[in-house]
Amino acid sequence: MKLTPQQSLLHWYETHGRHDLPWRTTNDPYHIYISEIMLQQTQVKTVLERFYFPFLERFPTLSEVAQSHQDDVLKMWEGLGYYTRARNLHNAARQCDGNLPNNAHDLMQLSGIGRSTAHAIAAFAFQEPLPILDANVKRILYRYFALRERNEKKLWEYAYTLFDSSHPFEYNQAMMDLGASLCLSKNPLCSRCPFETTCKGKSEPLLYPEPKKSKLKPIRERSIIIYKRSERYALSQRRDRFLHGLWGFYETTDTVYGKPIGQITQHYSHFTLEADLYLSTETFSHEAFEWFSLEEIRELSLSRADHKAVELLRYNL
Ligand code: ADE
Repeated sequence: MKLTPQQSLLHWYETHGRHDLPWRTTNDPYHIYISEIMLQQTQVKTVLERFYFPFLERFPTLSEVAQSHQDDVLKMWEGLGYYTRARNLHNAARQCDGNLPNNAHDLMQLSGIGRSTAHAIAAFAFQEPLPILDANVKRILYRYFALRERNEKKLWEYAYTLFDSSHPFEYNQAMMDLGASLCLSKNPLCSRCPFETTCKGKSEPLLYPEPKKSKLKPIRERSIIIYKRSERYALSQRRDRFLHGLWGFYETTDTVYGKPIGQITQHYSHFTLEADLYLSTETFSHEAFEWFSLEEIRELSLSRADHKAVELLRYNL
């Protein structure tokens, strides 16, 4: 008997799926929500090994997130990057007063929950029959339907065409696993794919979708100055949009004449930071800055670049 593409996919998932991921063995919407937000821009391995469990231990319920200060949420997000996710999460927890809505439409009203994330939470926690459209699923669909042009609106329609509404959980998890293990962007393993016979793009998968127009990342050259005063160091909490809420040392585009103690390179989504780091004992006074000992700095949330600065500082003491 010939299987439908959906049946082939589900068979494949039974044998090859990652069934023991902790956010797949629970139906707690809060746990699923945390996993989906963390997994938006971070690999499964990192989320699993370093962030998912400590976060849930520190904040066992969404009410606890709602009742906490944003800084405490940021602290648990430290090192995970894309901190807007943590601020949105804190906002969303307050918006719904710690009670997540039980359907995609209402989930989508909350800060930081877009359509695909809302569909994922609703499909996984509440069996709502909705497809998801994350980066892996997009690649599968562009290939499956042999679509060269990148067009997200049209792709949602295709997502519904292939979707198996009687198995929203398994279908969506299977699509993610397929994208992560076989329908790879550079080396797709088509001969092992459950869609091998029905995929329209299988003879030339690399044609779909057309490549993104490459945007070269600009380089931001800066000097970071660590001001020191009786074993304390000056940091301020960022108020601008970028890295908002994280603490950092003084940063400037001016030429600096101080003791150089190292160089820092940090890649961000839209630019690369290249900074020379200086240690200075000159008088420094700036209303936004406070003075902290090295012990106290441990308690603050810092960006990766500022963490590197602390490492270089310790090395130079
Ligand atoms: N990425 C986003 N959601 C995921 C999930 N539920 N399992 C594995 N990877 C994911």
